[in-house]
Formats: sequence, C-alpha cells, structure tokens
Amino acid sequence: MSLNLMGRSLVTLADYSSTEILALLKFSADLKAQKKAGHYNKHLANKNIALIFEKPSTRTRCAFVVAAYDEGAHPEYLGKNDIQIGKKETIADTARVLGRMFDGIQFRGFAHRTVEELAAHAGVPVWNGLTDRYHPTQVLADYLTVQEEFGDLNNLVFAYTGDGRNNMANSLMVIAAKLGIDFRIVTPKSLQPDPEILKMCSEFASQSGAKITVTDDVAKGVKDARVIYTDVWASMGEEDMISDRIALLKPYRVDAEMFAKTGRADSIFLHCLPAFHNHETELAKKFPDICEVTDEVFSGTRSRVFDQAENRMHTIKAVMVATINPPDHQA
Ligand code: CP
Ligand code: NVA
Repeated sequence: MSLNLMGRSLVTLADYSSTEILALLKFSADLKAQKKAGHYNKHLANKNIALIFEKPSTRTRCAFVVAAYDEGAHPEYLGKNDIQIGKKETIADTARVLGRMFDGIQFRGFAHRTVEELAAHAGVPVWNGLTDRYHPTQVLADYLTVQEEFGDLNNLVFAYTGDGRNNMANSLMVIAAKLGIDFRIVTPKSLQPDPEILKMCSEFASQSGAKITVTDDVAKGVKDARVIYTDVWASMGEEDMISDRIALLKPYRVDAEMFAKTGRADSIFLHCLPAFHNHETELAKKFPDICEVTDEVFSGTRSRVFDQAENRMHTIKAVMVATINPPDHQA
C-alpha cells in the first residue's frame, strides 16, 4: 500500500482519508514487527525533531523520543518555560524559526488553534500530541491495538463512555467515522459532543458507512460492543471540575456489570491513560470516587491498556517517518 504523506502535518485525522489512515496502521504494524525482530531502518538519520510541551506527558513524550532515536533522529524537548511561544514571540514566528532548524515539530498544549497555526507557518510537518480538541496520535495506537486483537476492523462496535466532549471522544469519533465503525458515545446530555464535530463526523459517516450514536443510556450504548473505552472524567486543565464530573459521570464508570451489558464474551477494555482505577494516586486519595474504571476491569483479562501504551511508540514512529521521509520517497 502506498504511503506517501511527505510533508503532511497531523493536526487532526479529519484531514486524512480512510486509505491514508489504514496505510499508517499497516506501516505501524510493519515497524513494530521489524523492531521486535531487532531490525532498525534509520529512516530518520540526521533529522532533528522539536517536541513542544505546554502540558505534562509520559507516553506521548517518551513515544516521540524513543521513536526518534530508533530511526536515527535527534529529539529536543521544549517545555513550557523553555521557549517564548505565545508569551514574547508569536506562534507564527516560533513556527518559522523552528521550521528552519527542525525537520518536524510535535506540539502538546491547550488551544487547538496553536497547533493549527504552527502547522500553517512551520514549513515542516507538525504533529498534534494532544490539544483540548483532538489527540490524533493516540487513536492510531488505539486502532492498531484493536486490529491486533480482532485481526481486522470489520463488524466493530466501539463504545466510548464518560466525558463525551473531550479530546479523546472527538478523536475516536473522527477515526470511527472515517473507517466505517459502529461507534457510540455514552455520556450524560450535558457532556455531549460539540454539534459542529458531530455534524462533520456524520458527513464522514455517510461516505464510509459508519454509524455514530450519542446516548445517555448505558445499556443501549454498550450493547454488542467489542471495545469499551473510557478516559479520565476531568482532562488536564479541568481539575477544578472534578467534583462536578464525579457527580455526573458515576453512572458511566466502567465495571464488570457494564461489560455484562455488551452481551459478548470477547470485548476488550481500552483507555488512553493515565487512568484512575485505584486509590494509590494523590488525586484519587483526595477524591475517592474519581475512578472512571474499576480496578477489577483495569487489571483484568479484558484490559489491553498497556498494549495500547506501547503502540503509541510504533504509531508515532510511523507518522514521523511517513511525513518526513516516507518509504515511497526513499525508493
Ligand atoms: N495517553 C497519553 O497521551 O498519555 P500522556 O499524557 O502520558 O502522554
Ligand atoms: N482527555 C485527557 C487525555 C489524556 C491523554 C486529557 O486531555 O487530559
């Protein structure tokens, strides 16, 4: 399958066709198999990668760093207090400067507009490592994990439960709509997705055959689901809303009873992580009801969350190689 995405940014998967998304998943699986076999291609030898982080990160940062080193590139971490972006220098000027020195730029931060502006002015690929609106590299890892589990994405019913208007709900809905999935967002009425994103996804769905459902009815939402996915109830920057979200989202916590409602024995549990599933973290001690998933499910046989976390690295590697030095271009 051809994979020439040379020079493209990844701001949202809404900009990618289903063929391009499937090709990226295939390329990720190939790179993963090669690494497991001890084979490193060094597709990015002598390339330099900037990693801008306004928000904290374990998986995304480490995935970019390890993937860059595996492929022979040099990553440079730029934390929010290290550079002038938006404070003393415009986003556009920062993009122009970094684009003269680096071959690709990752951005994680608050406003989605920032990553759009970086991509508009950098002149090199810009990859969205999470904004308030989207988290596209995460959902590539999620779908790679689903493919590994079930062999393909056919007849997939995918239920996302919890905060229905956050970056994960949006990104999962976009990729599902592109790939023709039966996708449900199971959330209270007050946390339903942005109507604009919903409308865009309905248009993608009419092309792909996807089915997008938004419901506050847990039994209806998870019926027949092969995947149950959840995320934290308050995203980064929303910590002051934790108590309100607990009150709203307790009925949407993933537990064994919710899995029983799928009516399937082979359903799996996914989570982008970090997750609240026990009381061993500072926030979970302060808010004992904060857990979006029970420890029984998170640590149980249906959980694939650490495969997902590993797959962040393989998929991010595929995105960097495909957009900086794709195999077709090398040939
Ligand atoms: N899932 C995810 O993006 O994790 P980090 O916040 O640790 O990067
Ligand atoms: N919705 C979460 C995702 C973390 C990977 C957040 O933005 O904090």
